[in-house]
Amino acid sequence: MLDKILNVFKEKFGETGTILKFFAPGRINLIGEHIDYNGGCVLPCALTIGTYGVVRKREDNKIRCYSLNFEDKGIIETEIENLKYQSEHNWVNYIKAVIWAFEQKGHKIDKGFDFVCFGTIPNGSGLSSSASLEILISKILIDLFNINISMVEASLISQFAENKFIGVNCGIMDQFAIAMGKKDNAIFLNTNTLDYKYAPVKLDDMKIVISNTNKKRELADSKYNERRKECENSLLEIKKVKPEIETLADLTPEEFENIKDVIKDETWQKRVKHVLYENDRTKKAYEFLQQNNIIEFGKLLNLSHKSLKEDYEVTGVELDTLVEISWKQEGVIGSRMTGAGFGGCTVSIVKEQFVDIFIQNVGKEYKEKIGYDADFYVAEIGDAPKQI
Ligand code: GLA
Repeated sequence: MLDKILNVFKEKFGETGTILKFFAPGRINLIGEHIDYNGGCVLPCALTIGTYGVVRKREDNKIRCYSLNFEDKGIIETEIENLKYQSEHNWVNYIKAVIWAFEQKGHKIDKGFDFVCFGTIPNGSGLSSSASLEILISKILIDLFNINISMVEASLISQFAENKFIGVNCGIMDQFAIAMGKKDNAIFLNTNTLDYKYAPVKLDDMKIVISNTNKKRELADSKYNERRKECENSLLEIKKVKPEIETLADLTPEEFENIKDVIKDETWQKRVKHVLYENDRTKKAYEFLQQNNIIEFGKLLNLSHKSLKEDYEVTGVELDTLVEISWKQEGVIGSRMTGAGFGGCTVSIVKEQFVDIFIQNVGKEYKEKIGYDADFYVAEIGDAPKQI
């Protein structure tokens, strides 16, 4: 794969000079969904699929980019000055966003570069192809321009890029999980303090299977922002009786049950209920993972899905169908939607000996019910971004 990207680079931009190769992973969230903008705990991991980039620094201020995923767009060219979102720059806006964010945070990027990339994360799958590209570019900027920051800082700058330049109001989970990924480990992250611990994922005779609904994620961004707003508004209501609370996740489920009537809107009450119980489930899931108790871990995944369906209402018929078919299969320890929802993927833990039949059965029934195919990938937990 890398050879192909390198050849395309040489073909488009010439062979001279120092050409460097990089990789950044995608991510999957095991549990802790819609928690990262509410100050609670999440449990994602980096994947071995991700984004490859080949790059060479230039002596002028031009940026020339080519993606093997968007060959029809050709070479997209821009400059490092006056960076603004321009729809005609398409996917390159993510690159501009990160350069802009580095500059905003006081890191000088004084030269341009030529860049070719290829992503192995299916587009629109909710496995964070955009955060993967952002972190890849962050890593490239750090190495090319000798910028002395940690990967945690890089993840915050990339989130800033996504929030302020791209205009998507995401939390820190995706960028953090990608920047700080560790092979065969999940990351137990407190999104309020950014304290984190690695949790080895020892599945013995089980595999993590990612199933892709292949549903186009229409309205996902506006619905996402709507959920954020509902949480922010609920927090304001709760503060009337508990002014010391800074984020929703500061409340325990028990405290919430005692004061929930202060939230007048029943829908908002359900949103907060999801957040608090999901935060609780995530902490328990981390404990079970440490004890290698995958059976109990799996039960929490199932409860998480139920809560995302009934209380947070971010699933939809495709995700629910995929999960409900998965639950019926032999050898399935747990299954839930992962990521923002409204389409995208599910994560299932499946006994290795049943993986093939799982894919066959779930694939068949999903197609019968939904009318088009799902895709399946057996996930491997990968490492942080690196120069190859
Ligand atoms: C998207 C966002 C994340 C997180 C998840 C939901 O992936 O980018 O910040 O909020 O949705 O858990």
